[in-house]
Amino acid sequence: MSHLVIALDGPAASGKGTLARKLAKHFNLALLDTGALYRAVGWSVLNDGGDPTSEKDAVKAAKNMGNIDLSNRELRTESIGAAASKVASMPAVRQLLVDFQRTFADNPPKDKDGTILDGRDIGTVICPDAQVKIFITAEVETRAKRRFLEEFGPKGTDQQYLNILADLKARDERDMTRSTSPLKLAENAHLIDTTNSDIEAVFEATRKYVSSVA
Ligand code: CDP
Repeated sequence: MSHLVIALDGPAASGKGTLARKLAKHFNLALLDTGALYRAVGWSVLNDGGDPTSEKDAVKAAKNMGNIDLSNRELRTESIGAAASKVASMPAVRQLLVDFQRTFADNPPKDKDGTILDGRDIGTVICPDAQVKIFITAEVETRAKRRFLEEFGPKGTDQQYLNILADLKARDERDMTRSTSPLKLAENAHLIDTTNSDIEAVFEATRKYVSSVA
């Protein structure tokens, strides 16, 4: 593969999305937020009055994803994140999304110098041969605080924060212990802990790392 492929993985609200956008811009890469695919499946199941733990409902939604707007802000809520994590634990759902992700990784548009995908299994399963693998994480309380501010802003209540914290812990547990494509550190992945760093510092360190290996 001649173009650059960056595989970026990490747990919920670790800062993957923001870092992925900054790296994509800096290195002129096409970006795929693979979490949006699973969120779209979860959203579609709920929207049709289905059950995200039912494989039948989830597979039906995954087969009919063509019309869903992946940039819809509704997909970003923590309740859709929870539904996404339930459908994402099903091998049949993951299988339906694999080809789309690999085709994206392998075929950057002509005006781009490569691709970047962010998710949970990019470095381990989707793009095991990616030149650059990054695993970004932070303590769960820090991640919950970031997601809480994103979703409720400065007027959010303590109870809303505690609900988000509980949801993230449940999601991490589900994502790390499922039998198919669990979230784990890929071999050769560069580990970044963002608990005590702001996004600019994280971006700067990652930019240097990518430039040194790519
Ligand atoms: O933005 P955040 O980190 O909260 O989540 P996301 O990346 O949008 O992913 C939502 C859910 O989709 C995750 O909790 C995973 O269960 C699932 N997912 C996955 O299984 N594999 C991926 N490559 C991406 C997301």
